[in-house]
Amino acid sequence: MDCCIASALCCFAALCLLVHFVCFLVADADFTLLWAALVGHRPESKLKGLVVWVTGASSGIGEELAYQLAKCGSRLVLSARREDELNRVKRHCLESSNLKDGDILVLSLDLLERTSHEEKAKTAIQYFGHIDVLINNGGRSQRSLCLETNVDVYQALMELNFLGTVSITKQVLPHMTQRGTGSIVTVSSVVGLAGAPLATGYSASKHALQGFFNSLRTELTDYPRILISTVCPGPVQSQIVGNSFTEELNKPVATVGNQEHKMPTSRCVRLMLVGIANGVKEMWIAQQPFLVFYYAWQYAPTFAWSVTNMLGRKRVQNFKAGLDADSAYFSKPKTS
Ligand SMILES: NC(=O)c1ccc[n+]([C@@H]2O[C@H](COP(=O)([O-])OP(=O)(O)OC[C@H]3O[C@@H](n4cnc5c(N)ncnc54)[C@H](OP(=O)(O)O)[C@@H]3O)[C@@H](O)[C@H]2O)c1
Repeated sequence: MDCCIASALCCFAALCLLVHFVCFLVADADFTLLWAALVGHRPESKLKGLVVWVTGASSGIGEELAYQLAKCGSRLVLSARREDELNRVKRHCLESSNLKDGDILVLSLDLLERTSHEEKAKTAIQYFGHIDVLINNGGRSQRSLCLETNVDVYQALMELNFLGTVSITKQVLPHMTQRGTGSIVTVSSVVGLAGAPLATGYSASKHALQGFFNSLRTELTDYPRILISTVCPGPVQSQIVGNSFTEELNKPVATVGNQEHKMPTSRCVRLMLVGIANGVKEMWIAQQPFLVFYYAWQYAPTFAWSVTNMLGRKRVQNFKAGLDADSAYFSKPKTS
C-alpha cells in the first residue's frame, strides 16, 4: 500500500515537473507574472480611473502603455520631449477609448532637464489632484564597443536613464508617502540583470536603476501600500535601436535591423499592466530563448557567462562587419 502511494506521488511530481517544463518552453515571462496573468486581478478592474504618469510616451513601449491604459479607463499624463508626437498619441487614445479630452494631460518633459522636474510634477499633481502610478519608461539604449566609446556617452546614458529617472521619482515619491499609497514602476531591462556586448553604458545605467529601486523598496516598509516595481524586458519591438547612443554623442546608429522577431509591444505592455495590477515587484518579460537567460543569470551565472560570451562574440563580429548585431540572437536575420 505504502509503495503504491509513494509511486503515485512520484508520478504526480514527475507530471508537475513535465507540465512546468512544457510551460517554460512557451513562456514569455517569469512564472510569478504568468501566474498573475492567469489567476490575478485584471488590469481593466484595478487600473480603471487611476491617474497614471507615463514618461517616454511618444513612441514604443510608452506609446503602447498609453493606448492600453486608456482602454483600461486610466487617466493619463503623457510625457516625453516631442509634444507633437504626444498629441498624436493622445488623439489615438481618445479615438480608441471612452476617455474625454480632459482625462489626458500632455506634459512635455526632458528627463535631462532636472531643474524643470519639480514644476512638471507640480503641474501633473495639480491637474488631477494626485498621481496614483508613475511609470518611469523614458530612456535610450546604446550600440557601441567600450573600446571605441567616448566617456561623454557613458555620462549621457547615466544622466538620462539613471539620474533623470531618479529625479522624477524624487518629485513624486513625497506625494505618495503623504497619501500612503501609489506605485512607482520603472522600465529597466534584461541588461539591468545581466550583461551584453555593445551595451556597457546602457547596462550600467539599468543596473543602477535596479540597485536604486531595490534599495528604495527597503526604505518604504512603513508604506505597505506603495509599490516599487521594476520591469525587465528582453527585446521588444520599438524605436529603441534607431534611437540608441553610439561611440560619440550625436552620431546616429548605422544599421537598424529588422524588429519583427522581437516581442510585440502590445504583449510586453499587457504583461506590464498585469504586473502593476497585481503588485509584482520585478517582472521578467521575454520570449524564449531569452527568458532562459534570466534564470541562468540568476541561478547559474558561470554557465550564463559562457553562453553570453559565445553569443556575444558573434554579435561583436556582426557589429564590426557593419551587419545588424542583433541578428546573432535571431534565427532569421534581415537588415533594412
Ligand atoms: N525595446 C526594447 O527592446 C527594450 C528592452 C528593454 C528595456 N527597454 C526600455 O524601455 C523603455 C522604452 O523604450 P522603447 O523600447 O519604447 O524605445 P523608444 O521607442 O525609443 O522610446 C523611448 C522613449 O523615451 C523618450 N525619451 C528619450 N530621451 C528622452 C529625454 N531626454 N527626455 C524625455 N524622454 C525621452 C522618447 O521620447 P522623445 O524622443 O519624444 O523624448 C521615447 O518616447 C526604455 O527605458 C528602454 O530602455 C526597451
